[in-house]
Amino acid sequence: MSETQSTFAEHKRKTVETAEFTEDGRYKRKIRSFVLRTGRLSDFQKNAMNENWTEYGLEYQKTPFDFVEIFGNHNPVILEIGFGMGKSLVEMAKQNPNKNYVGIEVHTPGVGACIAYAVEKNVKNLRVICHDATEILRDCIADNALSGLQLFFPDPWHKAKHHKRRIVQPHFIANIVKRLQVGGFIHMATDWENYAEHMLEVLKNTHELRNTSADNNYIPRPDFRPLTKFEQRGHRLGHGVWDLYFIKN
Ligand SMILES: C[S@@+](CC[C@H](N)C(=O)[O-])C[C@H]1O[C@@H](n2cnc3c(N)ncnc32)[C@H](O)[C@@H]1O
Repeated sequence: MSETQSTFAEHKRKTVETAEFTEDGRYKRKIRSFVLRTGRLSDFQKNAMNENWTEYGLEYQKTPFDFVEIFGNHNPVILEIGFGMGKSLVEMAKQNPNKNYVGIEVHTPGVGACIAYAVEKNVKNLRVICHDATEILRDCIADNALSGLQLFFPDPWHKAKHHKRRIVQPHFIANIVKRLQVGGFIHMATDWENYAEHMLEVLKNTHELRNTSADNNYIPRPDFRPLTKFEQRGHRLGHGVWDLYFIKN
């Protein structure tokens, strides 16, 4: 592998967000929903990224993506935020060839692992982005462009003083709702009850959304959602799981 190739995947880690400045030119510190873990990018993950980025990778840009051009079809597009190692996302894409999937993750080992698994499974209807999802939503996704949004086991930020770092906030949901088509879905799952209650409150207070739950709270775990790595970990720790599924009116 050449030196240029080896630096590409490593460089990605340093560009997961764009620097923003105040009017007087000072660096703006943002409240992030993630911590960039130091987990090492293995050679296997690095090679998968370097060799397949042209086919699977999408870069942050200041204008909305043209999904018809990207995928070469008009199939519905589903966005997943924080796919972790990406196994469940690849499985979903494999099971639903008539839908297009776009996954966002800031953790580069996960991005490499996801691409490697997509190559192994010969999945064509998937693209991945290695960048802060809040910036991607804001700048790269056109209004009404999505048929669904998936957020599985987002970082729960357990302590009350960190709750502001939770990705699910009213302004985040408002941004998603704008980008969803009418009839589009928001599917979330968490193994942290306090976060589930917070998600439910934010979603219920968004008047464009309708809860599909019979009891106006959670839905039973759907079979179509593959088991994720964090869900498995939660099972080992004896955690429950809460799924929320809302539709845009
Ligand atoms: C707790 S993990 C869950 C991963 C996976 N969904 C699962 O269930 O195994 C949450 C993931 O979200 C990612 N994440 C958090 N905030 C993000 C953001 N703003 N943009 C992209 N990824 C983010 C983290 O890097 C982390 O891998």
